[in-house]
Amino acid sequence: TILVLDFGSQYSHLITRRLREINVYCEMLPCTQKLAELPWSPKGIILSGGPYSVYWDDAPHADPAVFELGVPILGICYGLQEIAWNFGKNVLAGEKREYGHAYLKVERHGDGEAGGHVDKLFKGLEDDMEVWMSHGDKLSHLPDDFVTIATTSNAPFAGMGHKSKPLYGIQFHPEVTHTPKGKVLLKNFALDICQAKADWTMGKFVEQEIERIRALVGDKGQVIGAVSGGVDSTVAAKLMQEAIGDRFHAVLVDNGVLRMNEAKQVKETLTKGLGINLTVIDASDRFLDKLAGVKDDPEKKRKIIGNTFIEVFQETAKQIAKDAHNTPKAGEIEWLLQGTLYPDVIESISFKGPSATIKTHHNVGGLLEGMHLKLIEPLRELFKDEVRELGTNLGIPEDLVWRHPFPGPGIAIRILGEVTRSQVRIAREADAIFIEEIRAAGLYRNISQAFAALLPVKAVGVMGDKRVHDQVIALRAVETSDFMTADWYPFDGAFLKKVSRRIVNEVEGVCRVVYDITSKPPGTIEME
Ligand code: XMP
Repeated sequence: TILVLDFGSQYSHLITRRLREINVYCEMLPCTQKLAELPWSPKGIILSGGPYSVYWDDAPHADPAVFELGVPILGICYGLQEIAWNFGKNVLAGEKREYGHAYLKVERHGDGEAGGHVDKLFKGLEDDMEVWMSHGDKLSHLPDDFVTIATTSNAPFAGMGHKSKPLYGIQFHPEVTHTPKGKVLLKNFALDICQAKADWTMGKFVEQEIERIRALVGDKGQVIGAVSGGVDSTVAAKLMQEAIGDRFHAVLVDNGVLRMNEAKQVKETLTKGLGINLTVIDASDRFLDKLAGVKDDPEKKRKIIGNTFIEVFQETAKQIAKDAHNTPKAGEIEWLLQGTLYPDVIESISFKGPSATIKTHHNVGGLLEGMHLKLIEPLRELFKDEVRELGTNLGIPEDLVWRHPFPGPGIAIRILGEVTRSQVRIAREADAIFIEEIRAAGLYRNISQAFAALLPVKAVGVMGDKRVHDQVIALRAVETSDFMTADWYPFDGAFLKKVSRRIVNEVEGVCRVVYDITSKPPGTIEME
């Protein structure tokens, strides 16, 4: 295991991700971790970047035992300065911040005094490398017994290595994709210098995470969490079920604006398929009654749905807590599960924070008023593709693992204008046909998100011998890698013709179908 000590850089988690990509197991802990309290011994230690200056009075510093352990250490950015600080305090404020691409020149030492091991970090890499810099401070000179192993035009000590010990520091960030060969460097450090094993798999992550959850929650602890049928909440829920069985309580709130048959299908999959202890609350009427009359303000729809969700979830949670408390042996519910992924984690973990996977979150702190729930977020170090891999590993069906994202306010923001029961029916039926045809054509995985929206206008058509005056469905399908920008999907004409014919024939109240050919930007993915 490699220990990553986090000094709070926005990139810290990427270090762990890159190590996982080369199948090396690592654990990231706050930089203040005392080695004596660590129940395992690391094969190597990486000191991350961080937003501080090592010479500040309140700057975080690693446990001095880190430097006495004798295992290889790689300091990245702040980590390099931390090593230099430890070996002579020769770090200065840089004249200007350096941020962006830089060209690195590798210096090799061959068989000389420092030869052999200092060259290992850049082994197999070219002498000129493109790297990503993001720092303010730099070294004024090298600490004793260190040699330069890389330079850039702005940083004469962009890389340093100790002459006899396996200590390395680099000013640039090898963990970001803007350093194209950064992974080779991390691989050199982990596999060659630390001699770590490349035997980590998602299966091992599951085992470790289950152990971690059990230790945290204890023998009696109870956890509650909302599920939506999407991949993140399902994977998080399945992990909890594996860890603590029925002491995990999943809640699905049917808000009346889910997709066709969704509540039923999610219930089937989660309870029968995955064995999750699930309570389904049908609150459709409550949501739809509140939405009545809201026409021109999409944000108002979002607010109503969000607030009603919190109310319903709170009531359900209190009831479940009451029931759980009455059961012999069961403790009170004290944990709230959230399927937060790494990209959702905006602020990086504070070095003062309790641990890498668990933290109290002010936004949801208020979610369950009066219940004082602690937050448990087992996916918060993972990226979407890793969550999918984890889901597959946990036996979650492929269909669910690859499901398109679905917004919290559901089809309420796909029904432009007022959301009524009859509008919900039309939007749902059209959407189900569109998605069914996308799946049948084998296109579901090529498309990032697709749905049918119902426009609040009427158009004229002829059906049979009659003139009709009915509504218009707009189909939307996009390709995107990050949902920040998106392109509309180029279906062929025959496909669109088929979908249009089916929707007009099968969905009562629709006489026209249009296809939305707006990219994002300027459009958004949703229509409201
Ligand atoms: P836009 O429409 O902003 O959508 O291009 C980007 C992604 O976010 C989803 N989305 C939402 N998800 N609540 C959610 O949970 C919302 O209010 C919401 N609005 C948009 C959208 O489906 C797409 O995946």
